[in-house]
Amino acid sequence: MRVLGREWRHPVACASGALAAHLPGLESAVTRGASAVFTKTITEEPRDGHPGPAFLTFDDEGYALNAMGLPNPGLEGMRRELRAFRERYDVPLYASIAAEDPEGFERLARGLRGEVDGLEVNVSCPHAGRGMGAELGTDPELVGEIVEAVVGAFDGPVSVKLTPNVDRRTLLEVAAAAVDAGADALTAVNTLGPCLRIDLRTASPLLGAGVGGLSGPALKPVALRVVADLALELGDEVEILGVGGVRSGEDVLEFLMAGARAVQVATAARDRSFSEIAREAERALRDLGYGDFEEVIGAALPEYEERLRRLGWVG
Ligand SMILES: Cc1cc2nc3c(=O)[nH]c(=O)nc-3n(C[C@H](O)[C@H](O)[C@H](O)COP(=O)(O)O)c2cc1C
Repeated sequence: MRVLGREWRHPVACASGALAAHLPGLESAVTRGASAVFTKTITEEPRDGHPGPAFLTFDDEGYALNAMGLPNPGLEGMRRELRAFRERYDVPLYASIAAEDPEGFERLARGLRGEVDGLEVNVSCPHAGRGMGAELGTDPELVGEIVEAVVGAFDGPVSVKLTPNVDRRTLLEVAAAAVDAGADALTAVNTLGPCLRIDLRTASPLLGAGVGGLSGPALKPVALRVVADLALELGDEVEILGVGGVRSGEDVLEFLMAGARAVQVATAARDRSFSEIAREAERALRDLGYGDFEEVIGAALPEYEERLRRLGWVG
């Protein structure tokens, strides 16, 4: 299937941040069967990230929290890792980028020309700190400026990764601004939050950064709704990549029915391989009587739209 300008073997990709920022992490995404790899978010300068604990799982409650703080080797360091990766693998490779302003995004996009097959613009991390991530991605005008700068400086497809931490109207305004500025795709969603958990013995936040973003199964219904809203509004103009709580083949089909062309997996990549999830999705697809993945994309949208009409949310 064709996604973001390349042929993907199946619709299950490795999400940004799911594995390490360095070559071994990128390689393990491939050996575990990801059809495409999205790098850890790259910033111009290297970042150490937030103090630990930075990733906590609450499996019984169906979610994980993280506040990694975008640790990465910076643009120069990451270019070396990407080149080493590309010498060994011909797997679709996309770089996630984050900066504080359109100029910073533009420099990153220019620096990654020819190094990757496409870019994912991270304007949605809920714990990156002041002036970054979701703070930018809730302002439609600023998102438009960032996307215009990136599209003008890069030579391949650009996806914009959106935050779910907004009301429906703002979500659609931000997404429309990204599309009007030339985005080829939307990735939905980044983690939900910021979230807080407290250690009862120390009366302190559990996460080193204090707050973090929620991922895993509990995020799935939010992510599905965002994907479906984007698909209804903008699905004819851009590709949509679904991410949030995917851990089984059925989850993949649910995202495709909501209008996603492909999915990404982060949290579940700890204990499930991408190829295993893809195989499950193929089996579930056949069991439901569909011929191929293309057939199922957007299958739930007509009825979703009808129900929203009854709520008075669409005209
Ligand atoms: C440990 C961890 C690190 C992450 N790092 C990034 C990142 O660097 N950039 C980004 O855009 N998203 C990052 N994410 C968000 C994921 O890409 C994804 O949007 C989110 O976790 C929801 O998917 P999931 O439920 O499959 O984990 C990270 C998620 C986790 C769990």
